[in-house]
Amino acid sequence: MIMIDGPAELGGELAIQGAKNSTLPLLAAALLCKGQTVLHNCPNLSDVDTAVRILEHLGCRCRREGHDLTVDSGMNDCEIPEELMRGMRSSIVFLGAMIARCGRARLCSPGGCELGPRPIDLHLSSLRRLGVEIDESGGWLTCQAPEGVQGAYVSLSFPSVGATENLILAAVCGKGTTIIANAAREPEICDLAEYLNRCGGRVYGAGESCVIIDGVKELFGSEHRVMPDRIATVTYMAAAAVTGGNITLRDVDNAHILPMLSPFEEAGCEVRQLGGSLNIMAPRPLGAVKHIRTMPYPGFPTDAQPPVMAMAAVGQGTSVFVENIFESRYRHAEGLQRMGAKIKVEGKVAVIEGVERLTGASVEAADLRGGAALVVAGLAAQGRTLVGGTEYICRGYENLAGGLADLGARIREV
Ligand code: EPZ
Repeated sequence: MIMIDGPAELGGELAIQGAKNSTLPLLAAALLCKGQTVLHNCPNLSDVDTAVRILEHLGCRCRREGHDLTVDSGMNDCEIPEELMRGMRSSIVFLGAMIARCGRARLCSPGGCELGPRPIDLHLSSLRRLGVEIDESGGWLTCQAPEGVQGAYVSLSFPSVGATENLILAAVCGKGTTIIANAAREPEICDLAEYLNRCGGRVYGAGESCVIIDGVKELFGSEHRVMPDRIATVTYMAAAAVTGGNITLRDVDNAHILPMLSPFEEAGCEVRQLGGSLNIMAPRPLGAVKHIRTMPYPGFPTDAQPPVMAMAAVGQGTSVFVENIFESRYRHAEGLQRMGAKIKVEGKVAVIEGVERLTGASVEAADLRGGAALVVAGLAAQGRTLVGGTEYICRGYENLAGGLADLGARIREV
């Protein structure tokens, strides 16, 4: 668990890690490309370790040196065993690449996760449009593309990030052209397309709602620097906001932060973005965080909702949150309430009345971003906070406690 003695006041500088949600699809791309892929700025995360175990199980050779991860692509198996699938539900993103690489794939249906049921209907219906035969019996997905992946027009009923990534990975070496309507526009899609195009792919329009993929015969691995993690960035910004801190974050992609700036500025923070750095100075006390509604990019990202709720818990005034993406993404409210936060949750709406001061308590993370929110709140709380369930936190944050300690927090893993 993580132990925090609050309140803290944060200051100093910190470099932001590479993006978890870009690294995972890039590792699926490494499986698809022949030869060697080298990813720079690859974060040390348990989800990345799980993805590496899957690649090695499938026949790839992986080597990590610091933040460089090298994958020698080979494929002598097309099945992901249950224990590896259970380790990370986003392993579904390997499906498209496996089918593209060897024409078939077998993996167990990814379980739901802490955020509620995680359906994959859009992944499956889209792949079927590309000529993939999928049998869903017995909790397993057995897929094959006897004629290879055929280009097609696919319209997504919801701009699913994972389904968009699976479609691109399946179609990039398919026969003919694939058009994705209502594609997800998240920056991680652009990072994936940039890498695939560098390997010889023809993916156009990534970042827009219509993505066109002209299938090519094969791709050869190359080098790529993983984009900065925009959710880790906003998490540290929230830590500064709740502690009246003044911090500078380096290796940031400032364009990706724009959809998340308004709650910070409304609450009186001064944010200065310059090149690859971001400086945030927070007032004491923090002003009110007003209305947050999570939406697909370029709307306010659902992953930023938990840490920003920790801000609202100590902001002056009342905030209304509407979580439109996941069914149960307010589980951190319970831990915040134990620390004295005034939060009312009704379905996808949460109303938060800011309080003067939170009080340290023993709380339990129930998911990755919710756990980060509890750590952020612990920095502002009076006294000692113990956050359990840190195995969730290290899935997506490279050394969150260490980073915050570098910024002056009295925090450590115990
Ligand atoms: C990605 O998940 C991210 N994970 C999530 O980050 C992020 O919250 C999410 O995108 C939204 O931005 C990775 O990139 C590994 P979706 P993904 O498919 O792809 C529904 C984190 O904390 N849906 O866009 O699973 C789904 O139930 C994680 O880093 C279907 O109904 O997100 C959800 O309500 C959490 N059918 C909504 O769409 C489908 O086939 C968004 O899901 C697929 C999704």
